[in-house]
Amino acid sequence: MSPDQSNIIRVTCAPGLEPYLEQEMGSLGHAIEAKQETAVEITGTLADAMKLNLYLRTANHVLFLLSEFPCLTPEDLYRHVSFVEWEKLLSPDGYVSVVAGGDSRAINNWVFVSQKVKDAIVDRIAEVAGRRPNAGPEKHAFVVNCYWVKDHCWLYLNTSGQKLSDRGYRRVPHKAPMRETLAAGVVMATGYDGTQPLVNPMCGSGTLAIEAGLIAAGRPPGLLRSNFGFMHVLGFDDAAWQAMRREAHKAKGDKGAGPVRPIIATDMDDRAIRAAEQNAKTAGVDHLIEFKQCDFADTPIPSDPGVVLLNPEYGQRLGEIGELENTYARIGDFFKQNCPGWTGFIFTGNPALAKKVGLRVSRRIPFFNGPIECRLLKYELYTGTREKYAKEA
Ligand SMILES: C[S@@+](CC[C@H](N)C(=O)[O-])C[C@H]1O[C@@H](n2cnc3c(N)ncnc32)[C@H](O)[C@@H]1O
Repeated sequence: MSPDQSNIIRVTCAPGLEPYLEQEMGSLGHAIEAKQETAVEITGTLADAMKLNLYLRTANHVLFLLSEFPCLTPEDLYRHVSFVEWEKLLSPDGYVSVVAGGDSRAINNWVFVSQKVKDAIVDRIAEVAGRRPNAGPEKHAFVVNCYWVKDHCWLYLNTSGQKLSDRGYRRVPHKAPMRETLAAGVVMATGYDGTQPLVNPMCGSGTLAIEAGLIAAGRPPGLLRSNFGFMHVLGFDDAAWQAMRREAHKAKGDKGAGPVRPIIATDMDDRAIRAAEQNAKTAGVDHLIEFKQCDFADTPIPSDPGVVLLNPEYGQRLGEIGELENTYARIGDFFKQNCPGWTGFIFTGNPALAKKVGLRVSRRIPFFNGPIECRLLKYELYTGTREKYAKEA
């Protein structure tokens, strides 16, 4: 495929992350052409797709449109997929994986659809090259996505391969870790840009603090990954990719030259702190984060105000709720007593528990953590008397 060939690029994300993805794509200079639930579309080249893979913090996959066609039956699908010049994209010694999904009355088995697409690809290459590529479920090489909605089909080259949320830094997980892309969206929603301090009590495996560190350092998350789907496309321009990486490193250096504001991450669990420290090291931002094992209420708060962000557990089992009610009430006290002048945020999936904080919420920002509807609750922690807080609550 020619690197200058333009087509639709569809970038997917988890539900609720669309506004942040759109903001990111806009700030990379792209004109947004369409917005849908869990996707944003632009027009661009394969080089644009590579760059998006490098820079985007909230995206799941960057998909480059190869073909679209009317499709009523599996036979239509096979025929149209065979029209694509796969031999110019994939080596007969390569490995292909197909992901199929959508909404069509003709289909009740998406595995069958992915097999049909895979057959069309490998049959065409076998016909031209005399050998067929391997195929299977692994997403580490050449990945094709097929969406079949009603009577229309879209065929994409998945230039990311594995999900972009798999940054590769969270080698030591702790309980209930947030997806990296969700954590990035949550940090973006707080308005944090690295120019103010950020405090993250209850940091767990450190995802929020690490994503904040990556933002503060101006470090694109794609620099952490060594494998993307586009690298397995025939004619992959490694020199162009290395130049993009060098450019990204340079941008990182520019931002890093400014004054460094502290990021403080604490957790009462010693294992969480050790995991978070190790993960931050792998992400290359450990020098930006101060870790401490302590109860959240003992977290040191710098004198310059900034963002204080907590992701407490929200309790799946009944027995936990009583204890968590107390924790949420204590978070309210911590905000009032220790964080005047700061902007407080609580990420939770349990609105009943959130009420126990007892402070006025100035904004409720919707998110999803997997299937759970969550809110990022914002609290303006004005400097003032405790009586004023009590009145507001
Ligand atoms: C939902 S997890 C945070 C997950 C984190 N956002 C991540 O991505 O890994 C909540 C964390 O709060 C910590 N925690 C619970 N109660 C605490 C307390 N009283 N003081 C400090 N940390 C506490 C737990 O040890 C756990 O690591």
